Amino acid sequence: MPRVQVVHASRHGGTAGIAERIGEVLRAEGVEAVVARAGDRPDPSGFDAYVVGSGVYMGNWLKEGVEFLERNQGTLASRPTWIFSSGPLRGSTAGTKGSPLEDALGPEEGPGSGGRKKVAALVTAVRARDHHVFYGAFDPNDPPKAMAERFVRLLPAAKGVLPAGDFREWEVIEAWARTIARELTTKVPVAVG
Ligand SMILES: Cc1cc2nc3c(=O)[nH]c(=O)nc-3n(C[C@H](O)[C@H](O)[C@H](O)COP(=O)(O)O)c2cc1C
Repeated sequence: MPRVQVVHASRHGGTAGIAERIGEVLRAEGVEAVVARAGDRPDPSGFDAYVVGSGVYMGNWLKEGVEFLERNQGTLASRPTWIFSSGPLRGSTAGTKGSPLEDALGPEEGPGSGGRKKVAALVTAVRARDHHVFYGAFDPNDPPKAMAERFVRLLPAAKGVLPAGDFREWEVIEAWARTIARELTTKVPVAVG
């Protein structure tokens, strides 16, 4: 049975919930899955594949998610690896760029492209099979956990930029996890002769 490490960087629990659900689907599909927090610096040795995801804040992955990929680049590049970002909030006035990737991490080039470029470079470095962007969740009653977050929430435009709600699309997340399970459990026929 293949063993998969599912690692997440999550400030308010939305991305952690996605990682847990991916783990559950993988197990249901016959794959052993261990879910870990990137901030705990989990050891990636001994796994056959990896799924790594982070919540997106101000167009960037959380630091611990970036650091996990940077620290373990070589190991992850040598095994099948999938990446996900969790960010856009449906109806956000900031989310008008057309694609979830652009809404989450900014444009490919020019002003505001730094976070997107950073993630793109990491996706290439770990030779990820896919980078999927899932919609996120925002609960304004959950107190801010960083200075910048506190500041953004106080801006007059905050209500439009950060609509409250849980926009995570469980069916989309589960379908993505099933694709991963299928890739890991499908036997490639060995050519004879
Ligand atoms: C201050 C703040 C800034 C955010 N910036 C972005 C962003 O740039 N792009 C994006 O897609 N989502 C952004 N979001 C939405 C979060 O990514 C979303 O709430 C996500 O589900 C958070 O994941 P977590 O609960 O695992 O931390 C922001 C949320 C907050 C509160």
